[in-house]
Amino acid sequence: MNSQSNLKNDVFLRALQCQPVPYTPVWMMRQAGRYLPEYRATRAKAGSFLNLCQTPELACEVTLQPLARFPLDAAILFSDILTIPHAMGLGLQFETGEGPVIQRPVRSAADVSKLGVPDPYQELRYVVDAVSLIRRELAGRVPLIGFAGSPWTVATYCVEGGSSRDFAKIKAMMYQEPSTLHALLKVLTRATIEYLNAQIAAGAQAVMLFDTWGSVLTPSAYREFSLAYMAQIVAELKREAEGRVVPRVVFTKGAGPLLAEMAKLECEALGVDWMTDLSQARQWVGERKALQGNLDPSVLYASPDRIREEVVKVLASYGKGHGHVFNLGHGIHPAIPPDHAAAMIQAVHEFSPKYHA
Ligand code: CP3
Repeated sequence: MNSQSNLKNDVFLRALQCQPVPYTPVWMMRQAGRYLPEYRATRAKAGSFLNLCQTPELACEVTLQPLARFPLDAAILFSDILTIPHAMGLGLQFETGEGPVIQRPVRSAADVSKLGVPDPYQELRYVVDAVSLIRRELAGRVPLIGFAGSPWTVATYCVEGGSSRDFAKIKAMMYQEPSTLHALLKVLTRATIEYLNAQIAAGAQAVMLFDTWGSVLTPSAYREFSLAYMAQIVAELKREAEGRVVPRVVFTKGAGPLLAEMAKLECEALGVDWMTDLSQARQWVGERKALQGNLDPSVLYASPDRIREEVVKVLASYGKGHGHVFNLGHGIHPAIPPDHAAAMIQAVHEFSPKYHA
């Protein structure tokens, strides 16, 4: 028996394909994370964030933690978008309170020429193993999402050497030596295609590209340095596994009107942050693609009653019809009380059926 027949809740996969669903499915970006005390305990046991990512049993444990608490409609692999530069040998550390640090940043054509495409079954084996293990432990409860960063977003960390406010180094490279940046994006693109296809082969039932920093570019630079590479990735992903379509979600935070151009991507769904109304996004995108979003993550600081009101606003903004996956507009903040996340999820399940009648 293939494991497909095993999937008990396929509402998320159906919604991503704009198929009829009885209610709006919901999951949260960063649903396994520091707002959960049980995550902090496992992270302490692992010793470091990277160790947590690299130990399949622990990555599996934290992936399942939010599902034990909340009736979420999808699980997301616990990992990070920086596993690829790590596997390329750039040296990655997570300093407490400072975010990621790349020890050997990429600054020149010579630096880029040293980079190879990591073998997902060698250097990134721990991710593939985590995917298989999570699928086994999920036992068909909900689908598992695999993910990677967009080449542009991952490149910002590779070139800047970590998080950045102004992206000065990578933008200087973009305007002074565009061929060097293109060479870097090209190798990241190949690596990402192989990495995501390995996640799909291991059991990821949907995949998402996180383009957190695409919107720091001008629209024309966005097309050239981010969108074009994401287009290549989605076009080269395996379409089906276990007899099912593997939906592809592309999320550029801050995309705004660029969603109209993203609508031409060969993918099933687009992520929307909280700065765009879903009704507006739906007009830009048309009925061709599902939309995933877009409650402001800060709403979860409010009281449960207030959260319920804001959930209704997001549902109403999307309006009637299928093709909506409820999510936050970006990751859940570490200081959110878990029962506020519970209130959001409960409200989505309670108030969404009438939009599907
Ligand atoms: O959504 C999920 O539950 C899956 C797990 C996931 C993580 N990172 C775990 C994580 C996903 C999908 C990511 C993606 C990611 N990582 C992005 C794109 C999405 C986004 O949030 O914009 C980016 C830009 C990164 C890079 C990254 N990883 C940064 C900048 C940081 C530090 C910021 C911070 O919040 O401290 C991380 C670390 C990280 N990745 C944590 C988690 C749970 C916190 C690490 C810890 O436990 O201390």
